[in-house]
Amino acid sequence: MSYAWFFRIPACLLSIGLVSASGHCAPESFSRMPGDPVLASSPAVSTQFGDPLPGLTPDQLIAFNVGKAEFNTVKTKSIGLGPIFNNNSCVACHSGPASGGSSTIVVTRFGLVSNGQFDPLAELGGSLLQSKFTDPVCREVIPAQANVTAKRQTTPLFGLGLVEAIPDAAIRALALKRKPFGIQGKVSEVFDTPTSQTRVGRFGWKAQQATLLGFNSDAYLNEMGITNRFHPTENAPNGNTAVLETYDTVADPEDVIDPQTNKGIVDLSTDFGKFLAPPPTTTLTTNARRGQRLFSQIGCAICHVPTLTTASNADPVFDRKPVNLYSDLLLHDMGTLGDGIAQGTAGMQDMKTAPLWGLNASGPYLHDGRAATVDEAIRAHDGEAARTRDLYNRLSATQQQQLLEFLNSI
Ligand code: HEC
Ligand code: HEC
Repeated sequence: MSYAWFFRIPACLLSIGLVSASGHCAPESFSRMPGDPVLASSPAVSTQFGDPLPGLTPDQLIAFNVGKAEFNTVKTKSIGLGPIFNNNSCVACHSGPASGGSSTIVVTRFGLVSNGQFDPLAELGGSLLQSKFTDPVCREVIPAQANVTAKRQTTPLFGLGLVEAIPDAAIRALALKRKPFGIQGKVSEVFDTPTSQTRVGRFGWKAQQATLLGFNSDAYLNEMGITNRFHPTENAPNGNTAVLETYDTVADPEDVIDPQTNKGIVDLSTDFGKFLAPPPTTTLTTNARRGQRLFSQIGCAICHVPTLTTASNADPVFDRKPVNLYSDLLLHDMGTLGDGIAQGTAGMQDMKTAPLWGLNASGPYLHDGRAATVDEAIRAHDGEAARTRDLYNRLSATQQQQLLEFLNSI
């Protein structure tokens, strides 16, 4: 068990907050310790939002472009859209600032909490609501039994191939590490349908999926009503199988492997997500560098771990690469900020540490988009993050600006 975390917190922060003789914890007292975050060495080739990863082979570049075309294709009823769905293409939600990005579009989850237990009301079509339909008879509603609903905002896919290549063991090690301020963090254990393995979840607000193919094949079914080899059974509107039988006119699975390419559309769009470059970063100004130091000193970096590294990989594009995502990919009890939905390992109050890369293009913030600004998002932290939130609140206005300038640059 390592106690290293404790020694990295400057004494003036551990006493009563940040106040020192000069009024605030003097920046000079923050010396860089081994293991402190260094801002991501910028990639050798600089990329823009929506670009492919640098260094792809010609075949990989083709797969990226074919996958992007699939991601952007509007689906129709005749190829299997619906009977209930949330939108008619991936890009309809994942749109900004480039295809594969985020948007303000939210989806709705519901459930029933009784005696402290969460019931996703699966037999009534939960926990995910499909708000659109190919015929009004299929319209899905939040059932009267539900006593909890939550909105979840669309997240961006930039850099997710690198996130996928981070070894489970690295995330498990972060969970075991001893941390100050009452911060813990637990691994999301999920069953990955494509590989039939139990893996460390890392995608989604609740770290509910471990692989891109796992997430995407689920999205084809649950966001568009397109069944596939991993999810061959269509969602019945509010659980009504009679209605489903009448209105589901395309044979399942709707996505099948094309013998020419040996791939289905779930595989094509997965190539796109896998090869999407991380968000671009900007050079840190002097103020942003001060903010970077504060980010580490007040404990943000305990959860928002600046850099994880991919495992050794036969493909050089993913081989031992730094991934500057600013997340430990662990679940934390966020108290009042939790969304009230239990999912897999994640309890009702647990949320995955949101990655912070590309923050300047992904607002509004937090799982339901309730925070218009980064400042508001920080102030809404609770539960395990309550101490670091308090330390943020006690920074001087100048220091807060420096921290925000840093967050705007990553
Ligand atoms: C109705 C809007 C909508 C559509 C359509 C949609 N998504 Fe999403 N997507 C979301 C939302 C909302 C989330 C966050 C969900 C959560 O964590 O509960 C998400 C998350 C993701 C993630 C995880 C990203 C991360 O940060 O971990 C992936 C991958 C993804 N979507 C891929 C797809 C693909 C591929 C398609 C098309 C088959 C698709 N999505 C269609 C709204 C949508
Ligand atoms: C205990 C772990 C933990 C600590 C400590 C922590 N965060 Fe977070 N942070 C999270 C989680 C979990 C979320 C996602 C919460 C949600 O939306 O429900 C999050 C979300 C955010 C977001 C919004 C990201 C988005 O895309 O919407 C920002 C910005 C942020 N954190 C900044 C900070 C800063 C700055 C600090 C230090 C003052 C900090 N966090 C400390 C766990 C933590």
